[in-house]
Amino acid sequence: MDSTTMKATAHTNIALIKYWGKKNIELNLPTTSSLSLTLDKYYTTTSVSSAEIDSFVLNNQPADATRIHHFLNMLRKQLGDFSPLKVISENHVPTSAGLASSASAFAALTGVVVHELGMNLSNEELSRLARRGSGSASRSFFGNFAVWHKGIDDESSFAESLNASDMPIALVVAEVSHAEKKISSTEGMQRALTSPNYDDWLVKSANQLIDMQSAIQHADIDKVGSIAEDNALGMHALNLTASRQPFTYFTDQTQMILSLIQDMRHQGILAYATIDAGPNVKIITTKDEASTIVNILKNAMPTLAVEVAQSGPGISYD
Ligand code: ADP
Ligand code: DP6
Ligand code: CO
Repeated sequence: MDSTTMKATAHTNIALIKYWGKKNIELNLPTTSSLSLTLDKYYTTTSVSSAEIDSFVLNNQPADATRIHHFLNMLRKQLGDFSPLKVISENHVPTSAGLASSASAFAALTGVVVHELGMNLSNEELSRLARRGSGSASRSFFGNFAVWHKGIDDESSFAESLNASDMPIALVVAEVSHAEKKISSTEGMQRALTSPNYDDWLVKSANQLIDMQSAIQHADIDKVGSIAEDNALGMHALNLTASRQPFTYFTDQTQMILSLIQDMRHQGILAYATIDAGPNVKIITTKDEASTIVNILKNAMPTLAVEVAQSGPGISYD
């Protein structure tokens, strides 16, 4: 691999129907299919160059390369051997805070390595590879809405674009904390699998995915939000009811925002919550109502950091 300055930029995505459990850890096959919206605000840019050993620089600081080394070795087996790499990455998203840094990170890394190898793979093929680094990364090659088909083996578990028409959806992101989570997504979902409610959640998730696809085709943002909130709260209920080491990612501020969202709905504002593996709350709304929601949050919680995100693009190279 030549030393070069090519970069890949991939955006994070927020799952509206969540991935929260692995059927096969080695292949990273999920227990459910999932559906996401790619976000414009948050992204990762990654480049690689030849090195003595696999190494990792994140936001200009040397970082632990264990997970990257493991992933690059998987790529070497799948794509043919290549020499050690220095991976240089910038996260324009808080790392390990439940704002999906692993999604944009492993999509950008997969994209740049495959391009540097001179290979031309479709985004669907790239998504199969990135899935092995972090499941949510499979969905970050595509702009707007994407579906990750859970599949039954390595070949059939990949993501693709939903080809939905544009709709005026917005996400108000209440950034409760940028702190590194104590329980990684990988660990959290292993615990959730031990909940006695897990099988019921699987059945419900399959139905919610069908309803969500229909709501998106009809550009029905109210329905998109209400299904997404139901799905997300179900996921977090699994964490609380895990038989082995129950836990929650919610903090007091998370709870406060959830109750503010209920108040907003009583006032006729379109607002629904979704929450990933962290305390931060993403509020699904319309572009028109986003600023009203920001104002309500800022009035109630003056120190809270709030961003408004919209539909974002697929992976790009420069
Ligand atoms: P998040 O909610 O941010 O996705 P996860 O627990 O799923 O949190 O994943 C965090 C992990 O993703 C980090 O510990 C690191 O291993 C990996 N990661 C984050 N950013 C990058 C990056 N830019 N390049 C490579 N790996 C990254
Ligand atoms: C709650 O993709 O971060 O954000 O595959 O173990 O890296 P690993 O997990 P990750 O899990 C994301 C979980 C989620 C829901 C989702 O994005 O679908
Ligand atoms: Co993640």
